[in-house]
Amino acid sequence: MEPDNNKFFNVGLLLLATLLLAKLISALLNSRSNKRAPPTVKGIPFIGGLLRFLKGPIVMLRKEYPKLGSVFTVNLLHKKITFLIGPEVSAHFFKASESDLSQQEVYQFNVPTFGPGVVFDVDYSIRQEQFRFFTEALRVTKLKGYVDQMVREAEDFFSKWGDSGEVDLKYELEHLIILTASRCLLGSEVRDKLFADVSALFHDLDNGMLPISVMFPYLPIPAHRRRDQARSKLADIFAKIIASRKCNGSSDNDMLQCFIDSKYKDGRSTTDSEVTGLLIAALFAGQHTSSITSTWTGAYLLCHKEYMSAVLEEQQRLMGKHGDKIDHDILSEMDNLYRCIKEALRLHPPLIMLMRSSHSDFSVTTREGKEYDIPKGHIIATSPAFANRLPHVYKDPDRYDPDRFAPGRDEDKAAGPFSYISFGGGRHGCLGEPFAYLQIKAIWSQLLRNFELELISPFPEIDWNAMVVGVKGKVMVRYKRRKLSVS
Ligand code: HEM
Repeated sequence: MEPDNNKFFNVGLLLLATLLLAKLISALLNSRSNKRAPPTVKGIPFIGGLLRFLKGPIVMLRKEYPKLGSVFTVNLLHKKITFLIGPEVSAHFFKASESDLSQQEVYQFNVPTFGPGVVFDVDYSIRQEQFRFFTEALRVTKLKGYVDQMVREAEDFFSKWGDSGEVDLKYELEHLIILTASRCLLGSEVRDKLFADVSALFHDLDNGMLPISVMFPYLPIPAHRRRDQARSKLADIFAKIIASRKCNGSSDNDMLQCFIDSKYKDGRSTTDSEVTGLLIAALFAGQHTSSITSTWTGAYLLCHKEYMSAVLEEQQRLMGKHGDKIDHDILSEMDNLYRCIKEALRLHPPLIMLMRSSHSDFSVTTREGKEYDIPKGHIIATSPAFANRLPHVYKDPDRYDPDRFAPGRDEDKAAGPFSYISFGGGRHGCLGEPFAYLQIKAIWSQLLRNFELELISPFPEIDWNAMVVGVKGKVMVRYKRRKLSVS
């Protein structure tokens, strides 16, 4: 071969070798990344995952987790949902930045309910500032004032029960929680004068949040039309209240006032519409969740004599120490009651699935040491209802055992952070957790001190169909008034 031809041949050979090598590396990388992709829930292509999912996420998780493990993907029409179940694989879910894992897209369906300019309708920097307003409104100094109002509401409410009778505890507690939330969050104008109107409007907002609204929040259906009308009427009501407070120079201790007084970093004040939206968001975050938890707490206490005795003794001891008084600091001494509420909430977290939308690739390692790569574009989900009952985290996980949180056992801490996720955790952990515990403790300490109670309907079932998962049907209770004697 001539030298020129030779050179040509060598260059050609080199090119071919490079191409082959590139192809080989890409094949290797692909097979490696495929190998490291999480397992997928099997089903008919395109709709298979959807059919599984429609039976309910918990039914699906119970079936798939034992087969596929703590990380797996469900194909839901054109979307892929990857579940991360258990503390070992959840750190990224709870700690990732908004630019990596965002709430904005997956919680967009709340926008027509909360209204424009707040929470998931604004970019992250504004949302963070609005969550700062929540944090400030829920500071201990504020909570102390709210507790006095919670206690007064509960006293007043139960004073209207007779000396004995039968009630649907679920209905009663729902009603009391909305009264208390109105007082502490929405303010005295709503609680004292406009309660019926505002509750009816909130009812329409609530009924406008349907499973279909998650996919199609603007679908022109009557429930959505009523929701939009209610949102607009609420905005008018709050605009009038805000104007009157500003005009009178009055300043109450409630969340409404905190939001009116809140200022963005650039010095801008909140608008009336933002104040309304933030109040709606607070009510949506805290009302059903707290009333459901109060009801489960009662159902468990009434079926577990040993824990009922423990919380009664605790009330007697505190009455011996502080008399009839109940305030923030006294509620904070109720450790037994706290653990009983926390355990009811472990077994029945009202928010059964938390989601994010992933904008960057990430990897997770399971407790068995398997590594998975999750590409951007997936929806990432975790489930408090499922993860809170993992047998490697909680001993005998389906049993109601409040002492599992007692010092020495600390089962919610033993397996690491994110073992107990009823309030979420990390970057977006619930801002209302202390408020919720105070409210539920204020209600139950009143009930325990003033009534003998007996559950007369069967132990309640779970209403999996509700958006905020709660108690199915009535929870009938027989009560007899009594005065708990000091121990
Ligand atoms: C038993 C009662 C409650 C439960 C079980 C509960 C549960 C939760 C959960 C699971 C999250 C995290 C959502 C996620 O990660 O996607 C959350 C966030 C939040 N909760 Fe609660 N919540 C309760 C009561 C309240 C109350 C009473 C308020 C306010 C008055 C409140 C305000 C909030 C707010 C503002 C967030 C958003 C935090 C953020 O994204 O940075 N919650 N809650």
